[in-house]
Order: sequence, then structure tokens, then C-alpha cells
Amino acid sequence: MVESKGWNWKVVPENEKNVWIEPAIESYYFLDRWRKKDYKVFLDLGCGMGRHSIQFAQAGFDVNSFDIEEEAVKATCEWAKREGLSVVGKVGDMLSLPYSDSSIDCIFCRNVINHTDTQGVIRSIAEIHRVLKKGGECYFSLASKATYGFKNTDWPLIDPNTKICMREGPEYGVPHYFADYEGVFELTKEFKLESIYHVENFYEEFGHGHSSFHYHVLISK
Ligand SMILES: C[S@@+](CC[C@H](N)C(=O)[O-])C[C@H]1O[C@@H](n2cnc3c(N)ncnc32)[C@H](O)[C@@H]1O
Repeated sequence: MVESKGWNWKVVPENEKNVWIEPAIESYYFLDRWRKKDYKVFLDLGCGMGRHSIQFAQAGFDVNSFDIEEEAVKATCEWAKREGLSVVGKVGDMLSLPYSDSSIDCIFCRNVINHTDTQGVIRSIAEIHRVLKKGGECYFSLASKATYGFKNTDWPLIDPNTKICMREGPEYGVPHYFADYEGVFELTKEFKLESIYHVENFYEEFGHGHSSFHYHVLISK
């Protein structure tokens, strides 16, 4: 298995910082869904700068903020403190989550578990299965093989699904797993698959043919 490598948050360009402060579109749906299910214990798996930890803490969830990068967990905890909110931050690797079996109601994991190779994704999903309570849910996203970066770059391929990102910036040198439809089914076979969406992220400045695509997946245990 490839060595884990998180994001280098220090090199995120100034003009992209806002992206990591505003909650992602999907988060509003899951906030509503999980509140209605009376879930309480929330894990922001790969919390980054903390936008979803803050959003769920404001809504009254017991928030666990987790990332491999100390800087990310620190930024999240400091943001929570400024807001007068309480989150429990932990630094670690998603391949071995520091939470007990069946202890978490819901997991939000956006664009995180694809930062490893095929064996790493399999292991992270097994960890998600272990820590989720029975009846709990996890939302995660995975980059798709339809993405320009998988089809059209000469980045080093380290297994049939995984390339090392060679784009300058926070993800430089970070392994990227790319999924296909069958792969998502195979990876989630221990769960009930509630929904899959295949979504295009179109960037006007790059034009047609340069989009990235992600699978957005909801599973329950
Ligand atoms: C694209 S960012 C997404 C951050 C956050 N989920 C969001 O939507 O704002 C990916 C995050 O996953 C973290 N990450 C990458 N590999 C990881 C690993 N092996 N274990 C835990 N976190 C990891 C990175 O450090 C980074 O903070």
C-alpha cells in the first residue's frame, strides 16, 4: 500500500481559500437528513479547514474532526473556539481510525478517501464500517475515471486505479484513486448502498473536455 500523504494546506492559493470555508452543496442535504434521523455523533473524516465541522456543530451535533494534517485539525479547532463551539479534534490516518467500534452515527467524508491507492480505499471503507453504528450512514465522494486528470495526464500510474498527482499545489505528490461504477459497488458491498450520483465539475476557464467527475455515495450499515 502506498504511504499516506495529506494536503499541504500552506500552499492553497489565496483566491481559492474561500472554497474551503463555505460548506459544500451536499452538506445541507445531509445536515437535514441526519437531524431528522436524530443522529448525534458526527465524524468529519478528512476535515480540512473545518467547514463541515463548524456547520454540524452549529446544528447541535457532537462533532469529531479528523485529518492526517495537524494544521487542518488545528485550524478547525481554532475556528470552533472563535465561534464558541466545541469539537473534538484528532490527527491520524484514515487507514486506522482512532474511534471505537460502532461509536459514530454519521460520517461526512467529501473528497478524502480517494487520496490513497486501491488497497488504501478498501481499508478506509472497512474502517468506516467498523466505527459506524448499526443503522448509521456515511456520505463519501470519490473521483471518477471520467475525470480529465485520470484519462489525459501522464502522471505516474501506481496501480490500475491510482495516479500520483503532479499538479503544483496542495495535492502535489498525493496519490489519487479513481473509481468506476462497478468499483463503487464492489467497495461498498458490506453496506446498503442508498444512492450514487455521478457529478461533473465543469470549469469554464478550462472548457469542455477538461471536467472532473466524482461519485457521490451514501451508504448505511
Ligand atoms: C480535498 S480536502 C477536503 C477537506 C474537507 N473534507 C472539505 O470538504 O472541506 C482532503 C483532506 O483529506 C485529508 N487526508 C488526505 N489523506 C488522508 C488520510 N490518509 N487520513 C486522513 N485525512 C487525510 C487531507 O489532509 C485534506 O485535509
